[in-house]
Amino acid sequence: MIRVVALGVDHGGFPFKNELLPWLRSRGYEVIDMGAHIFDSSDDYPDFAEAVARAVTSGQAWRGIIVCGSGVGACIVANKVAGARAGLCHDTYSARQGVEHDDMNILCLGARVIGIELAKELIAAFLNAEFSGEERHRRRADKIKAIEDRQSKTR
Ligand code: RB5
Repeated sequence: MIRVVALGVDHGGFPFKNELLPWLRSRGYEVIDMGAHIFDSSDDYPDFAEAVARAVTSGQAWRGIIVCGSGVGACIVANKVAGARAGLCHDTYSARQGVEHDDMNILCLGARVIGIELAKELIAAFLNAEFSGEERHRRRADKIKAIEDRQSKTR
């Protein structure tokens, strides 16, 4: 089964893009390139982060990766989309455990904070991990979903 990964970057994350796209493809993933397609120092991370989150929550992509300068803005935006479970992880323990325990489906990275080799290690940890499915982890996931449901009712 070919797994589809959505990748989005703003100008802060753009330096990683040319390396990550072919690297992901060489590892057998189909990559949907959600932009930015050119370096533009005035582009805005919400545009790319929302696109990745929507690709993942609609089922167009299995998982998503968003790179901005720090990873913070990308993570804030992605988690506004119901069904997105984005984490900013700059250590491999969190990149793996975020999937296993929290069913994280989007990894956010900061290209001004880490180097490209650590980024690849983090992405590999994230993409190779699977949700545990354990009762306690499902229970917590259900509580997150319930928060989203209450939120949509109070809008
Ligand atoms: C862009 O200059 C920068 O603010 C953005 O990439 C990111 O770091 C936001 O969290």
